[in-house]
Amino acid sequence: MELTRLPLYVGTPEPASIPGDRSPAISVGSDLSAEEVVVAYHDRTKHHRHRYAASLGYMDWATQPDPFRRYSGTDLVRLPLPEPGRLLPYWQLYALGDMPSEPLSLESISLFFRYALSLTAWKRVDETTWSLRANPSSGNLHPTEGYAVLPAIKRLGDAPAVYHYAPKEHALERRAILDAKAWGEACALFPEGSFLVGLSSVHWREAWKYGERAFRYCQHDAGHALATLRIAAAALGWSLVLLDGISNSAIAALLGPSRDDDYGTAEREEPELLALVTPGFPSTSPRLLNGLTTGSIGAQWCGKANTLSHEHSALWPVIDEVARATRRSGSAPITEDFSAFPSQEELFGIPVRDGLLTAEKAILGRRSAVAMDGSTAISQEAFFRMLARLMPTQGGRSMPWDAIPWRPRIHLGLFVHRVEGVPRGLYALARDPDKLGALKEVMRREFRWQRLPSCPPGLPLYLLQEGDCRALAATVSCGQDIAGDGAFSMGMIADYMDSLTTYGAAFYRNLFWEAGMVGQVLYLEAEEAGIRSTGIGCYFDDLVHEVFGITSREWQSFYHFTVGGPVDDTRLTTLPAYNFEEER
Ligand SMILES: Cc1cc2nc3c(=O)[nH]c(=O)nc-3n(C[C@H](O)[C@H](O)[C@H](O)COP(=O)(O)O)c2cc1C
Repeated sequence: MELTRLPLYVGTPEPASIPGDRSPAISVGSDLSAEEVVVAYHDRTKHHRHRYAASLGYMDWATQPDPFRRYSGTDLVRLPLPEPGRLLPYWQLYALGDMPSEPLSLESISLFFRYALSLTAWKRVDETTWSLRANPSSGNLHPTEGYAVLPAIKRLGDAPAVYHYAPKEHALERRAILDAKAWGEACALFPEGSFLVGLSSVHWREAWKYGERAFRYCQHDAGHALATLRIAAAALGWSLVLLDGISNSAIAALLGPSRDDDYGTAEREEPELLALVTPGFPSTSPRLLNGLTTGSIGAQWCGKANTLSHEHSALWPVIDEVARATRRSGSAPITEDFSAFPSQEELFGIPVRDGLLTAEKAILGRRSAVAMDGSTAISQEAFFRMLARLMPTQGGRSMPWDAIPWRPRIHLGLFVHRVEGVPRGLYALARDPDKLGALKEVMRREFRWQRLPSCPPGLPLYLLQEGDCRALAATVSCGQDIAGDGAFSMGMIADYMDSLTTYGAAFYRNLFWEAGMVGQVLYLEAEEAGIRSTGIGCYFDDLVHEVFGITSREWQSFYHFTVGGPVDDTRLTTLPAYNFEEER
């Protein structure tokens, strides 16, 4: 297997679209509903074999965005770099409730951000260096910014405050000091030691390279980051739940992105999500923030955002349109019934409590493969276990699926190439067992829907069609060999139109988040299995649908992923993430 490209941080091989093939904005002069704007955006940002979604068509290096946002004029509180070598076994991340909960302190907050959003390495080739993080990102462009609203913590601050996480420094920038009484009242229902964590996206960072399709990638990245946050919380014995009822404008007011004066001409951030972190086993935490309004938290703000690019080579108005159409205006939190889901035993057999890998090695050592070796096979036990990790269990409590309240809307269409004892071919994993009938209905009539005798009873995995699908998998993934040279790859098929109808246009984002979470679990599971994986945002949407026989717009492919034996790129030098790692 030959390496054909350097994994430079703009390495995703998304071919350029034809410059100038942009159509006009979606809703100008029309009165489309938010759902119609979403559908129009999704359709026009599909990649087709002979026409990619609109982008600049070349890399404009002069306007390359800074991957690090900073707020000048804020106090920067360095987080003590946690001692490496924490012994927590990887499997224990999933054994909820078994672990004592770490008290909230500067050290535990530091570990939380270290595992969720920190730099994990610098890479160098010749004169070029770039950093990598615990959370992956399409093109390594990192549109996702992290925030936390923390109570008074010794050596961090003696009042509740809003912080921005600065990954390059592994530090928190204090953006606002909150009125302790007002904040206490807003959070009165949350358990002691709780805090909030939020994410926003800088669309420009992805749009710089990917043009109109960038909104999708920002959402994928937010989903990956939601999973890294959940997993980091699990490593500390904390739970994390998405506050899904809160509006985007409330998130923007709380975390700062709505503050026009603090941005000036700097690139704006789109508020994405807010989550509640609580100590201990997931409780029946209230998922609403009491009486949170723009003025209610009594915040004193400081800080001016840095400009990420001196100029912007192209503007993509459809991204603003779809962002507007998918803003949540505040709603009752989603509550769904998970009683029909399999138990841990039905999914895994005996509980998985072995493996030498530590959680830290999996989390900080996670890497995307830039090429797969075309030969490594995995055992069927490893394959089934990876897929079982993607399933919520009875009661909806398995990690990280306990962070989101909706039943799975993302199902898998798998291309299995090299799994011992599992025939090559196309497979389906119905992540919500109740959707099996609907999937059968929408996919090819001739598919077999056959269970494998060795498959755990609770895993809704079905053989659709036997055969060598290596070339097919690569073709649908924009011709990327990594999709055919691994052990298996997949298209993540979303229950799309029904989701929009049921939950509204804002849920378009949630579909990508869920897909990103699926990807993040697979990233870590690949580390556990001693192999690697890679997210694939570049795929030919309708060609994927054709493979599975999907002719209706109701179901759409939302993300691709590949898992297999990697080829290491020996041209790269790896440097520590932080200088102070060397100094220790
Ligand atoms: C949403 C998403 C889409 C991606 N798409 C591709 C892709 O199409 N092809 C590819 O080779 N890598 C892809 N990647 C992998 C990124 O290039 C990789 O995450 C990034 O370079 C950072 O490297 P790391 O994952 O090792 O930290 C994607 C990653 C994400 C999160």
